[in-house]
Amino acid sequence: MDALPLAPAKPAIPPAFFGETVTWVHHWTDRQFSFRCTRDPALRFVAGQFAMIGLMLGAKPLVRAYSMVSPPWDEELEFLSIKVQDGPLTSRLQHIKVGDTVLIGKKPTGTLLTENLLPGRTLWMVSTGTGLAPFMSLIREPEVYERFERVVLMHGVREVKELAYHEYIQNDLPAHEFLGEMLRGKLLYYPSVTREPFRTQGRVTTLLESGQVCADLGLPPLSPEQDRVMLCGSEAMNADVKAILEARGFVEGSNSEPGTYVLEKAFVTK
Ligand code: A2P
Repeated sequence: MDALPLAPAKPAIPPAFFGETVTWVHHWTDRQFSFRCTRDPALRFVAGQFAMIGLMLGAKPLVRAYSMVSPPWDEELEFLSIKVQDGPLTSRLQHIKVGDTVLIGKKPTGTLLTENLLPGRTLWMVSTGTGLAPFMSLIREPEVYERFERVVLMHGVREVKELAYHEYIQNDLPAHEFLGEMLRGKLLYYPSVTREPFRTQGRVTTLLESGQVCADLGLPPLSPEQDRVMLCGSEAMNADVKAILEARGFVEGSNSEPGTYVLEKAFVTK
């Protein structure tokens, strides 16, 4: 009797990665989506960090750096990604379905950590596009509210529909069973839109430089004496905000020396 044909063997997961199972996929727009996957109990990370995430392409891993959206206490992992039609990873990753396997790097790292900032009163999180991701983790980390009196989350996008997690941040989080009390009145969310009408319009850079965001939120002008800033956006946005901050005397912090601001680029562009 002929042997039954064997199903093609699944490629082995390289030792630097966990192979995790996709549990949820949500497409925000034709340019952005989020997904969740299982999390190996051995994976440890700190809010604000990123890991190498991706897919097996044949026998090889194809991965990019992605910040964790989910907080460290979440049983699963969540990520926010752009979709680039000819991008080597995101052209494929955008088609993942529940049950598929994704690669999760075993060694998260990054600089957007509260411990890289000197003590201060207000923590500013300034993001554009998918640069929101690490801040979604940080705003659900209780330690952030122990260290800072106030947390401002700025998220700049082109169109209203690109304000990923808008409903969640605005309505669900303050009503959250465990987190609500901790962040109500302390977390100030400031979304802004550049290419269509919205209640707050303009680039995050313009809103910061003009002082409009401070005026709208009833906060004193941005200063290195009391404010701390975390930045995550495109290279151009990071460079522009960095220049605004340094002109005001802010000093960049790192994993070796804390400062008054830290930055990370929103990595995946392909
Ligand atoms: P704009 O519409 O004026 O280009 P993208 O989707 O291209 O990553 O952009 C996300 C948001 O970041 C958009 O609102 C965009 O504004 C804004 N943006 C782009 N470049 C900069 C920059 N150098 N500084 C501040 N915001 C920027």
